[in-house]
Order: sequence, then C-alpha cells, then structure tokens
Amino acid sequence: MHHFAYKTGVLHAEGVSLAAIADEVGTPFYCYSSATLERHYQVFQAAFAGSQTLICYSVKANSNQAVLMTLGQLGAGMDVVSEGELRRAIAAGIPGERIVFSGVGKTADEMAAGLAHDIYAFNAESRGELEQLSAVAQQSGKTARVALRVNPDVDPKTHHKIATGRAEDKFGIPWSESLELYDVASQLPGLSPVGVHMHIGSQIIDLEPFERAFALLRELVQDLRGSGHEIEFINFGGGLGVPYRSDAETPPDPEAYAAIVLKAAQDLDCRLLFEPGRMIAGNAGVLVSRVLYVKPGPTKTFTIVDAGMNDLIRPTLYGAHHEIWPVTEAQANATVAATDVVGPVCETGDFLALDRELPELQAGDLIAVLTAGAYGAVQASSYNSRLLVPEVMVRGDAHAVIRARPSYERLIGADTLPGWLTGT
Ligand code: LLP
Repeated sequence: MHHFAYKTGVLHAEGVSLAAIADEVGTPFYCYSSATLERHYQVFQAAFAGSQTLICYSVKANSNQAVLMTLGQLGAGMDVVSEGELRRAIAAGIPGERIVFSGVGKTADEMAAGLAHDIYAFNAESRGELEQLSAVAQQSGKTARVALRVNPDVDPKTHHKIATGRAEDKFGIPWSESLELYDVASQLPGLSPVGVHMHIGSQIIDLEPFERAFALLRELVQDLRGSGHEIEFINFGGGLGVPYRSDAETPPDPEAYAAIVLKAAQDLDCRLLFEPGRMIAGNAGVLVSRVLYVKPGPTKTFTIVDAGMNDLIRPTLYGAHHEIWPVTEAQANATVAATDVVGPVCETGDFLALDRELPELQAGDLIAVLTAGAYGAVQASSYNSRLLVPEVMVRGDAHAVIRARPSYERLIGADTLPGWLTGT
C-alpha cells in the first residue's frame, strides 16, 4: 500500500501535488512519501509483535539522510555495507548497537570504523574476512560480534542478478563449511561468534525458498549450540518482494512471512534480526519526468522523456517493470496505445518501459514512474554528464527538497587537471 493517488485529477504524494513539485524543482525528480515509509516499517514490526527483534533497514535501498532519519526515529536499526553507509547511519542518529555490517569485501578500515562505533554485529562471509576482522579487533582493543553468513544453496526464484543464496553466488559461507568456520571464529582472538545470518536474494515473491532456507538456519543454530557455541541471534536478511505490477504480482504479506520465520525460530530463544530494504522503501517513491517529444517511428512510437537509464537503471539492468502513470489523470475515454518510454541517454538500452500501453501523451506532460523508492536514486549516475536528479520528501501537506540538484560547476569542478595540461 502506498500514498500516491489522484486528487482532483492530479497525482499527489500524500497531500502534495506532483505537478506543483515539478513546477518548483523542475524535472526529473524523485519524490518519497514519509507515510508510506513509516507504514511499511510499522507493518513489518507489527508482524513480529511479541518477539525480540531488531529491524535493520537495508541502507543500500535508499540512503538519503531524510529516509534514514524517518526510519531511525521509529526505532529502526540499519544494515550497512560500506563505510559510507555506516557514516550515513551514524549521521542520521542511529546508535551503533542498532547497526549490522554486511558485505563480502569489507576493508580493514571499514572494520575499524564499525568497531569504533561498537556496532551490533558484523556479517562475515569468508575465512579470510574472519582473520582480518580478528586482526583489526585486536589492534582496536575491541571484540567484534560476528554472525557468519551462510549460503544455503537455495534458489530464491528471482532475477538471477539479485539471487544471492545459490552455491554459485559469491555470497556467504558454503553450507558444508559453516560448522567448521564457527569453530575457527571462536578460536580467533577478538571475535565473538554470537549470531547466524542468511540473505538469499531480493524481490522474492514466493515464500517457499524462504521456508526451506530458514529451516536450514534453524538446524544450524541447533547444531552450533550442540557444539558449544552461544548463539544469541538469527539474522534472516531481507528480500521480501514488492508488487511492481499491481495487477499481476502478489508478494507475500508480512504476516505470512512472519509465520515462516517464527516457525523456524520457535523455542530457540534468539533475538530476530531482519534487513528489509525494498519492502520498506520500494513503493514509497516515484520518479517524475516530463515528456520532451513524442516521436512516431516506422515500427513504433517513442515517448522521449527527460529521465533516463542513468536516473533509474532497473528497467534496463534487470528487465524490471515499473508502472507509469500520467501525472494528470487520463480521461476514461482516452486513447491507449503501446509506446516505448525512453530517455535522452545515447544508448539503445536507455528505456523506462518498452511496448507499454499508456494513455496518449504529449510533449510537456508529466509522468510518474512508480515503485522507484528502492534502488532508484541510489543507483543513479551522471552518465552523459547529466546531473543527478533532486529528491523530495513529502509528509502530509508539507514537502522538502532532501537532496538538491547539483550544479554543472560542481559536476565539472570535481575533475582536476594535471599540470602538463594547464602548463603550471
Ligand atoms: N541484506 C543483504 C545482505 C543484502 O545484500 C540486501 C540486498 C538486503 C539485505 C536488502 O534486500 P531487499 O530487502 O531490499 O530485497 N539493485 C537491485 C537489488 C539489489 C539487492 C542487493 N542486496 C534491484 O534494483 O533490484
């Protein structure tokens, strides 16, 4: 459920007209709804009422400081994967004890930064990483709380680029080696292996892979305790899908997901950790863009808009489907025709939608690309020397620019010239 709806014929984010924001900040821009972000966090939290939990929003999905602070003020923890994300979480006021650090390639500096903030746990993914973390912890005079991320070799039935829990994926410790590596971790100075972690993929619609993977996680906790390890928490990762197609996709509701988690965790007396990203931020955001030209071609019509693959890469990178709504509500009798909605970037792969049935659009019209709150702005680039687009947050009738459009001076000024070119 989200808070983008037509009011008197114009698409609004909560109480604010997207057309009015477009007039103020120009296009393209991202717009987020606070009420939607808050609702998703609260629905997830409510599904686990009565359990001891730590919900670590996955910062990578949308790392804007205003988004982090909105969630942090509800009590959310954060799942970070880099020093940059750690710094963002800390800057948003998230205490270290609510932060977990994931990722296959943490550097020694990143480990030291996590230890300096006394984070809740590191999710470790290899023997080499355990050894490095042990060395850094000893240097810092700290103990690193560790969860080993195990790879259950379960196919999450999602796009192959976002599947992470199959044997061939780079993530996690092979299932067969997990017991041995816990023994290694418990011998290494400065490490305290107190949790287990798993994240099998993203945009998961079918609960069955979760069920199989979580059953294995339960077994692992029992085996580890049998060998004398004190396991305090289970981190179930993220991955819950969202409905990109409101007519066709029905992702599991948090209660159904919670039932599976609670079955796996039953009687283990563990704290339950989660790292949801997309289900919190996904449909809390839209990308608003203006039609520049409608170009009839020999085989199809192109609707050329001012947002491109550099602003939202998901359609071309994952073949992702994002619904597109005209900001001015179409009349009931409007002609609907198939069109490719494409951007200005010089690549054939620069599209937001292919062969999409849309009410006829004209130059100057505004469109909203839905479900763009997660993995949208964070994956944007300035390819073609296009400026990153602004981000706006709405709360009720209020709105604020939460990241301004940068200037061309800043874009060009980021480069520096070697002396042999400037003659200095
Ligand atoms: N935890 C870990 C360890 C992860 O790797 C991820 C996502 C998450 C949590 C959050 O997963 P979520 O709840 O959002 O599914 N750029 C891609 C998605 C990449 C996801 C990477 N890892 C996309 O646009 O679909």
